[in-house]
Amino acid sequence: MVLRPLFLSLANRRGLRDLAMKFELGRTMSKRFVAGEERAEAMAVVHQLNQQQMSSTLDYLGENVEDSTQAQAIADEYKRVLDDIHRTGLKCNISIKLTALGLDLGEDLCFRNVEALCDHAAERNNFVRIDMEGSDYTDATLRIYERLRAANRHNTGVVLQAYLKRTAADIRHLMELGGLSVRLCKGAYKEAPEIAFQNMREIRRNFRRLASLLSDDTAAQCGVRLAVATHDPSLLRWAWKLYQQRGESNPGMEFQMLFGIRRDLQDKLIQSGCPLRIYTPYGEAWYPYFMRRLAERPENVAFVVRSLLNDLRPARNR
Ligand code: FDA
Repeated sequence: MVLRPLFLSLANRRGLRDLAMKFELGRTMSKRFVAGEERAEAMAVVHQLNQQQMSSTLDYLGENVEDSTQAQAIADEYKRVLDDIHRTGLKCNISIKLTALGLDLGEDLCFRNVEALCDHAAERNNFVRIDMEGSDYTDATLRIYERLRAANRHNTGVVLQAYLKRTAADIRHLMELGGLSVRLCKGAYKEAPEIAFQNMREIRRNFRRLASLLSDDTAAQCGVRLAVATHDPSLLRWAWKLYQQRGESNPGMEFQMLFGIRRDLQDKLIQSGCPLRIYTPYGEAWYPYFMRRLAERPENVAFVVRSLLNDLRPARNR
């Protein structure tokens, strides 16, 4: 808990990001959580996941772009991803960050980029999940989601964060849209105690409350599709029971986990017959994503240092 705020503030340091990304060392470290730098590497990982009965969602890394050309380049890469998925028949959709598609440059520009992506996905019978970023972006993200739905783009869903105190109210409001698709996670950013629960017990309690809201009879009647995104064993045990009780009336319900984290739990879920999707990031802009993973589990620093030492040792000593 002491190191978490440190890593999260380092995640936002642009200078540090630019420096870290120049070094081979950084790239080596990020491999723990990132499928590769190239699309082909990511597609190969998705292929493997599919063979192990897991679907995937691909995240082309990047956030807070500074001009519309960068935003367009990211949108174009996502279109190529959708083309590849369509061509190969892989079980995979995409997860996008609105700040990668120009949210800092204007809501209209970002909306147009996402709308075009949804259309590209719809033509290929695919789906676009909108990740949730820090709370400065929550309102704009939900506004864009609502605009998409109002414009008949229904092949899209959002992410809601259980640490935010507002989320129950957001769910009630969004359910009125019908056909709501939500990935529920704890939340990965640094947020003030006025707006976000800080204590893990409270976050878990809210997570259970929100997942219940998103899978009760009313939710089922409104066509809500819930994705439970966590590696927390106690929440997973609870959600597994929820899936047993509610899975039939909530046909879209699934579990989601991050690439490279808790393979043991991923295997258990698959063996117990639960649908599981793996969030698979790829690309060169790994730094902020990597720092958020360190913040969640500072023990990862020890892992990273160990693998670095291993890489530095002469081959004959390994
Ligand atoms: P929790 O932190 O409670 O840890 C439970 C166990 O999981 C740990 O004991 C450890 O074994 C393992 N674990 C967890 N994190 C680890 C790590 N980094 N390294 C190694 N082991 C780890 N957040 C957000 O704000 N917006 C978003 O859009 C998303 N999207 C998203 C998609 C998916 C599929 C997942 C699984 C998560 C997200 N998140 C997210 C991140 C989420 O908010 C949260 O920060 C992490 O999932 C960590 O919380 P958990 O409940 O998973 O594990």
